Amino acid sequence: MMTDLSYHYDVLVIGSGAAGLSTALKVAPHVKVAILSKGKIDEGSTNYAQGGIAAVLDAADSIENHVEDTLNAGAGLCKRETVEFVARNAPAAIKWLDELGINLTRDPEGGNDQPFHLTREGGHSHRRIVHAADATGRAVQTTLQKQAIDHPNIDIFENYLAIDLVTDRKLGGEGRRCVGAYALDLKSGRVKSFNARTVVLATGGASKVYRFTSNPDGSTGDGIAMAWRAGCRVMNMEFSQFHPTCLYHPQAKSFLISEALRGEGGKLLLPDGTRFMDRFDERGELAPRDIVARAIDHEMKRLGSDCVYLDITHKGADFIREHFPTIYETCLGFGIDMTREPIPVVPAAHYTCGGILTDLRGRTDLTGLYAIGECAGTGLHGANRLASNSLLECLVFGEAASCDIIEALPVDDRFTDLPPWDETGVTDSDEEVIVAHNWEQLRNVMWDFVGIVRTTKRLQRAQHRIDLLLSEIDEYYGNFRVSNDLLELRNLSVVAKLIIQSALWRRESRGLHYTTDYPERDDSGAPRQTIQVPENFAGRWVVSGQWKT
Ligand code: FAD
Ligand code: SIN
Repeated sequence: MMTDLSYHYDVLVIGSGAAGLSTALKVAPHVKVAILSKGKIDEGSTNYAQGGIAAVLDAADSIENHVEDTLNAGAGLCKRETVEFVARNAPAAIKWLDELGINLTRDPEGGNDQPFHLTREGGHSHRRIVHAADATGRAVQTTLQKQAIDHPNIDIFENYLAIDLVTDRKLGGEGRRCVGAYALDLKSGRVKSFNARTVVLATGGASKVYRFTSNPDGSTGDGIAMAWRAGCRVMNMEFSQFHPTCLYHPQAKSFLISEALRGEGGKLLLPDGTRFMDRFDERGELAPRDIVARAIDHEMKRLGSDCVYLDITHKGADFIREHFPTIYETCLGFGIDMTREPIPVVPAAHYTCGGILTDLRGRTDLTGLYAIGECAGTGLHGANRLASNSLLECLVFGEAASCDIIEALPVDDRFTDLPPWDETGVTDSDEEVIVAHNWEQLRNVMWDFVGIVRTTKRLQRAQHRIDLLLSEIDEYYGNFRVSNDLLELRNLSVVAKLIIQSALWRRESRGLHYTTDYPERDDSGAPRQTIQVPENFAGRWVVSGQWKT
């Protein structure tokens, strides 16, 4: 039965960024698909990606180089099998986008074999970043969403916020299979149920857990929190990536200054105009992000300055306008002419390297549940993601998961009506101010105590505050009708707790996790992943055995 409060689909994809759209497009020739997006279809991080997508296309480069660069950035914690899988499949992912008609920047001197302009970013030993000027994400998003909107087998539900996954426990089973999700229709305020044979989490990252972030508002870790509550393991959550260069301006919210600027020769300067990166790493401005962000943080604290500066004026106005049109226009809008003066920049939370534990097909611990893209922990990024490997991961795993989904689709073709959403005993909240206040408090605690440089004492302090917040939010959640802000806050507080717990467990400094109590990397034993197991663990060990690094 299908009512206006319950829907049935073969595949329910939660998220409409690169991960969700590519998975949906690949399964849609075979099955009926619903895509949920909690805002407009293009409001995820994908749309804001700038630098590009890493792929070995140049004959002078090699897959082995891409693998080695990724492993180096990941500081000993990447899963080699995943890294090789992604690097090997990267050229095919670019070919697929090209066939869909994406407008990638071409190299006027490139031939038919390799027509694209390749730029460079930190940690890459070669030029291998395919891009669409400085707005690669917008090109990816618009190309994929156009295909999805036009597809007869895909229904898109904008402004539907998934609240929680539903397992077969709700239907009397053991809680090992995912059978759908509840979602809040933000327009009507009604909660609706989506019963599906397969559910794909493609909900993006959780960088909104920090006060300053390059991410759009929706990066609240919903998928990670939902999977955790449903009984899935979560890995390496302590590795929050801070992008070294976000625009520093009182009116600029979350605007990124792409790493490609440094790839094309941009220099980082102190307020007095001197360079400093060479003091921290021989690769200078092109060292991996963890090193550059920490160096900036160190210099800002040492000098008591609000920001540092990124200078690319030596490239000349024509080059800058051609290669970085979006950044040029945006800076100009804030009164900064980057062709003539350095850009003020600060680090900000950018990417969630950990996530829901998956295997090489995107499968999670729950049968019928996949996690793709930034919400997943595939082992690609280890302790620090290499620039431009993220959009790539979305595309490669979208393809891998779609093959598995089609193969594994349950043969039983009956749909089950999920029990309706239970609203007994809840009322409308008249205290929205509490939610707003807790949002602010949580993000401040995370920025101040769980940021670029950590200590055990600060982590414990943060843990204590987040535990108090969690119990307050849980009580609130039990008593009041759900709202967008409340649901996101609930998810953020779960994610914050997971980050802090992982950070406390890691008694060393590695990649993005730096603590002054254990400032050295501990290579005495096998590198350790931090894998958290929920109390209601769903019990399907999709990733078993020792990870080879
Ligand atoms: P997203 O694109 O974030 O999409 C998440 C989707 O999930 C959205 O549609 C959202 O509405 C939906 N959603 C979330 N929660 C719910 C819910 N509860 N219910 C329903 N829907 C939900 N990576 C690169 O590789 N190269 C780059 O150049 C690059 N540049 C970047 C620049 C910026 C400014 C930022 C922020 C990121 C950049 N990244 C880059 C990282 C990369 O863009 C992201 O990691 C990637 O786009 C994530 O894609 P995704 O599909 O996993 O998630
Ligand atoms: C950037 O353009 O600097 C972002 C690249 C990335 O996050 O991969």
